[in-house]
Amino acid sequence: MNDLATPTQSADAAICHGKDRRYFDLMAYIVSNAAAGEIMAVDNYCEMVPLIADTDAKIETAKQAFDETKHIRMLASLGRRLDFQVEARIVEPQWLHIRKHFSAAVARKDLAACLVIQDLMTETMAIVLYRILQRDTDPETADMAKRILADEEEHLGIGTRRLAAMLEADPESVQDSLVWAHHRVMPELFSMISTSCHSLCDELGVDCGGIGLDSIRTDIEAIRVEALDTYIETLDRVGFDVKVTTPLIAGMSSYGGLPSADLRLAGTGSCVGSTGCC
Ligand SMILES: [Fe+2]
Ligand SMILES: [Fe+2]
Repeated sequence: MNDLATPTQSADAAICHGKDRRYFDLMAYIVSNAAAGEIMAVDNYCEMVPLIADTDAKIETAKQAFDETKHIRMLASLGRRLDFQVEARIVEPQWLHIRKHFSAAVARKDLAACLVIQDLMTETMAIVLYRILQRDTDPETADMAKRILADEEEHLGIGTRRLAAMLEADPESVQDSLVWAHHRVMPELFSMISTSCHSLCDELGVDCGGIGLDSIRTDIEAIRVEALDTYIETLDRVGFDVKVTTPLIAGMSSYGGLPSADLRLAGTGSCVGSTGCC
């Protein structure tokens, strides 16, 4: 057990903020997985720093790593205050797989792929997660999510700005980096938008089949749609060529990506919509 975490779950917590035990089991699951993503982000940013030549950008990236360390502390602190368990360590293997791909990009000195993996893909998913934690949760969770969300939006903005400049200078190579990273990292990230896990629920002592997203008035399909819509917005904001991004987005239906309405997919022959298809 990590010393940042609190293992007990009392009857008092179950009635705190008028929420029930099922709600706090859900929070334990989501917050623990979020903490794991934050830990991965610290390592990614730290590993990226030596690839950055510009000193101001290097300092900015080190600060991003520091922001992520604060997020780990905030998530662990939330668990202590509301008395639910937070595993402040990586449990689900997908985070380790993404770390491995990130390290491969570092080894190739592919800064564009590093920025795509951490600042675009991971931060986009973090933004979706913290937006969800602002809605229909308890006031303490919502307040924490709001404060972390502001940092994650700033991180996404940094990546978007840097990648847009790199894309203008060398579009072919940056778009190659996007394609390389997309096929490796997006399936891992999307596989975590799920009601089942590898071993996190066992570690937390919660019922894996009984994780109840309904207690925050959402469901898996709604989260997948929001995640993919936000990812599409991110790619468009950087300025990637739609001829490159459209096939990537279309291919995501094979692992659960369901955009609400991406008109670019019309005519591709892909069944990616949630309604009116197949
Ligand atoms: Fe973070
Ligand atoms: Fe971040």
